[in-house]
Amino acid sequence: MNIAVIGGSGQLGRDVVSVFRESHDHAFSLTHAEIEICSFESVKTCLQEKSPAVVVNTAAMHHVENCEKEPAAAYAVNAIGVRNIALVTREIGATLIHVSTDYVFDGKKSTPYAEEDLPLPLNVYGNSKLAGECYVRTINPKHFVLRTSALYGKHQCRGKGGRNFVDLMLELARTRGWVRVVSDEFVSPTPTYDLARQIVSLSRCDSYGLYHATSESSCSWYEFAREIFSLAGVQVNIEVANPGEFPTKAPRPAYSVLENRGLNKIGLNKLVSWQEGLERYLTEKVPAPLPSGIR
Ligand SMILES: NC(=O)c1ccc[n+]([C@@H]2O[C@H](COP(=O)([O-])OP(=O)(O)OC[C@H]3O[C@@H](n4cnc5c(N)ncnc54)[C@H](OP(=O)(O)O)[C@@H]3O)[C@@H](O)[C@H]2O)c1
Repeated sequence: MNIAVIGGSGQLGRDVVSVFRESHDHAFSLTHAEIEICSFESVKTCLQEKSPAVVVNTAAMHHVENCEKEPAAAYAVNAIGVRNIALVTREIGATLIHVSTDYVFDGKKSTPYAEEDLPLPLNVYGNSKLAGECYVRTINPKHFVLRTSALYGKHQCRGKGGRNFVDLMLELARTRGWVRVVSDEFVSPTPTYDLARQIVSLSRCDSYGLYHATSESSCSWYEFAREIFSLAGVQVNIEVANPGEFPTKAPRPAYSVLENRGLNKIGLNKLVSWQEGLERYLTEKVPAPLPSGIR
């Protein structure tokens, strides 16, 4: 199959391209230099020329604080940009696989959110992503909207810059020997490689719709950090941060755990527990300069 991956230079996009290629599909990467999703003309020219059967959209403005400061820019990318992709994919008859977020929920529940739960975003990022979801679902019937959570992978997250949470924790342990991490925000940390495999498996079927797609089970950021150090064999002084110790302008859901109910229903849930995903990530990490004390 001919597959186009928008956001192809991103953390998730790069893994999506690799996994499709491993599966012998003809996947090509569309970087920001090649496509500007905010421009209908750019999307149309690019996709019509390549005529893919499947388009995966991983492009987004997802730095939560920047979205709060620049709502027009967030909506231009996460809503109107996605609308452009939905319109063009419908026109060329392509399936659209679009990546969304757990931040469409307000986090007031204490049990995992299913696809049937009412979204109620707390911040501009979540609102703009929800608008993007609505465009996809109402414009192109051949769609998969996948909500995911707390991504990390071997490639750099371009929108947030710096290291992912796992690598940051290991770096802080090495350079400082202590970390303080919040224990009042719960997520399902999901490796980009696992999500990429899930995307490839869905591209083979026509059970279109909205799906939650995160690692199984959940943890607080503090529990996640503890597991990172435990699996990596790192000695570090880890403490629970006080509520409000890391103030942010944009409110965030305290509990954004998702249940992969839809994927289970169609028998295509490929995602493993967050601990298993983390263990594989740490094992496969480039064995180059490991911090001292890490086996
Ligand atoms: N990261 C997370 O923790 C997380 C959690 C839940 C959901 N998600 C969702 O997962 C998806 C992938 O995230 P990621 O971590 O892979 O992000 P990423 O590393 O920042 O990649 C996003 C890619 O989109 C490109 N892009 C941005 N604006 C664009 C535009 N206007 N036109 C064309 N391309 C554009 C970026 O290119 P440039 O960098 O060159 O601009 C980048 O290559 C996003 O939809 C995000 O909302 C992420």
